[in-house]
Amino acid sequence: SKITVSLIKADVGSVAGHTTVADELIKIAENNLSEAKESGLIIDFRVFKAGDDLELLMTHTKGVDNEEIHRLAWETFEKAAEKAKELKLYGAGQDLLADAFSGNVRGMGPGVAEMEFTERKAEPLIAFMMDKTEPGAFNLPIFRIFADPFNTAGLVIDPSMHQGFVFEIWDIMEHKRVFMKAPEEMYDILALIGAKSRFVIKRVYPKPGGKLPEDEPVAVVSTEKLYQVAGEYVGKDDPVALVRAQSGLPAVGEVLEAFAFPHLVSGWMRGSHNGPLMPVSFKYAKCTRFDGPPRVVAAGFQLSNGKLIGPVDLFDDPAFDYTRQKAMEIAEYMRRHGPFEPHRLPREEMEYTTLPKVMEKLKERFEEI
Ligand code: F6R
Ligand code: MG
Repeated sequence: SKITVSLIKADVGSVAGHTTVADELIKIAENNLSEAKESGLIIDFRVFKAGDDLELLMTHTKGVDNEEIHRLAWETFEKAAEKAKELKLYGAGQDLLADAFSGNVRGMGPGVAEMEFTERKAEPLIAFMMDKTEPGAFNLPIFRIFADPFNTAGLVIDPSMHQGFVFEIWDIMEHKRVFMKAPEEMYDILALIGAKSRFVIKRVYPKPGGKLPEDEPVAVVSTEKLYQVAGEYVGKDDPVALVRAQSGLPAVGEVLEAFAFPHLVSGWMRGSHNGPLMPVSFKYAKCTRFDGPPRVVAAGFQLSNGKLIGPVDLFDDPAFDYTRQKAMEIAEYMRRHGPFEPHRLPREEMEYTTLPKVMEKLKERFEEI
């Protein structure tokens, strides 16, 4: 039978500004999901924090977009938000954009990455959680994991992976999607996903005729954009992703290798700056310098009939020290640009701007040239 893994997250309030989730909220989420586990609704769960985001990882057999599972997540966030309000945490309830649950958390504020698949004899699974950035931040690493032979040796030397993968790419402005094959359409794929604020990798599938069923995803990314949800720009949506590994898929080490390069992503201070994505251990899943820099944490598991064996704190390793050092050098370099692009985002992508007001003030003083 098939297992569904759901990773659903929301920022419902944080401590010391946007730094991290308060332990009180983690406790509430754990209690709520414990009850759901006892009642048999979910098989297993883990609660994480990534910066100011509360992250619910759940396993069950109800499929994706399931009303009961989404209601459980929504009500857990609501309870945590209540506590956040009581404690006067920062931004209490900020991602709960709807007043009432209406069957599915999609479009209501929280971000969702979930996939249903047949659990293999041994099923390694990695949950990635980012803070202070946007879903397109996953484009580069997911592409490298499943399509770049300089990252993933298996694409070249493992006969069960040599045929490549299929990418499901969303145009988040037009609300359309396209399925594209790698390596055949690699240049076209890159033409899209290089524009990471518009084209976002949503899922990756195996190709037909391989070791794994072609209709069961092997990776999924959350793509909810808060500004579309709210009808006005209210923030970037810190993304999460689930990636399966090994035996016909990239090895865990090939998956993690894609994060050894701290690439520039949009977000950081006031959601309006470019900065390096720094892989960190759970302990450092908090955002400090200039409300960042943007971070990613990774929790590794083996699935055992839906039970989560783990987590392993995958970036808690000196093997990523060089990446972190590099990220801090890049952070320093970018910061020195102050209010100038390309540290500050282009106008269309800024979450905060004073430009219209400044222009209004100067209206009379602008003269023809
Ligand atoms: C970025 C983020 C923070 C805030 C910043 C200002 O996603 O959450 O960088 O934008 O701390 O917050 P306010 O305007 O609430 O003081
Ligand atoms: Mg956040």
